[in-house]
Amino acid sequence: MAAFTELVFSGVQPTGNLHLGNYLGAVKRFVEMQAREAQCLYCVVDMHAITLWQDPEALRGQIREVTAAFLAAGIDPKRSIVFNQSQVHQHAELAWIFNCVARLGWLNRMTQFKDKAGKDRENASIGLYDYPVLMAADILAYRATHVPVGEDQKQHLELTRDIAQKFNTDFAGSIAAHGHGDAFFPITEPLIGGPAARVMSLRDGTKKMSKSDPSDNARINLTDDADAIAQKIRRAKTDPEPLPSEVAGLKERPEADNLVGIYAALAGITREDVLRDFGGAQFSTFKPALADLAVTSLAPIAGEMRRLTADPGHIDAVLADGSARAEAIAAPTLDAVKDIVGFVRRGPSLQAVR
Ligand code: TRP
Repeated sequence: MAAFTELVFSGVQPTGNLHLGNYLGAVKRFVEMQAREAQCLYCVVDMHAITLWQDPEALRGQIREVTAAFLAAGIDPKRSIVFNQSQVHQHAELAWIFNCVARLGWLNRMTQFKDKAGKDRENASIGLYDYPVLMAADILAYRATHVPVGEDQKQHLELTRDIAQKFNTDFAGSIAAHGHGDAFFPITEPLIGGPAARVMSLRDGTKKMSKSDPSDNARINLTDDADAIAQKIRRAKTDPEPLPSEVAGLKERPEADNLVGIYAALAGITREDVLRDFGGAQFSTFKPALADLAVTSLAPIAGEMRRLTADPGHIDAVLADGSARAEAIAAPTLDAVKDIVGFVRRGPSLQAVR
């Protein structure tokens, strides 16, 4: 198997408010990944956003807001590449080629499409159906080896691996003839996990924390100020028992499990560690400690986001710079893919160059 240099890619949709679930499940982990040697690319996936209709002015604002959240949380736009998808045309181009690799049967199995399309499937956009193929193109345009994502994206990552595998097999002869050895695309590893891979609603520990929950008390938004954060945690649903001293005791206690998981993720420790300190404690003791921790971790991010979004020109400049650097990586991949599938293109083919 060919060796691929480690490269990290992930994306976040600019639809609606970012909340604690997006932060702990994605953005905070993006920040941590920067400690690796690898190049990291963090993409605001605006082309995915329009698979469901978006108000144009609101979309523009949300693209900038997600970018601000990335920067405020500690993603360094010099070290990492921060950009928005629609500025790098190679994503759309590669998605088309992958449309001709992916099979209808594979897409028919995608559970997120079924959830999002709901009952009125005839009326869903083709883009919504094709969403996972564009996601594969996002990842493979950079031949990314590692993708930090939430638990809910696992099936999409499997599809990405299937597309890479089928492309490598279908074009094996051409891939070898163009000097790429036995595989052109890596089989990407999803990085799913941490204590808060799934952050649940503060009002119902069996439901995911969601931007579309009608109750704002169910989630902590990244833009919430200190008072709002503390109040939402104080009001979070719990059960009457004290915290257990073992993780096994959190079973069947979804609200307690969620709050312990949030504490662990914010503090960068395990659930075991949390229960070592708080086992036997009442929620009247644990909640104020969690509120303090959440306020110290999140309120500065909200403040920095407010500062950054006040200067959209600066955000747009970060995205323009990131997009140019992203394109510098994606363009040679697309040239090679075009040669591999047998297209004729302007300029010397990569084979002739070599
Ligand atoms: N589908 C992802 C989500 O909703 C967002 C996304 C789009 C993504 N393209 C990606 C994530 C590529 C990782 C890699 O969370």
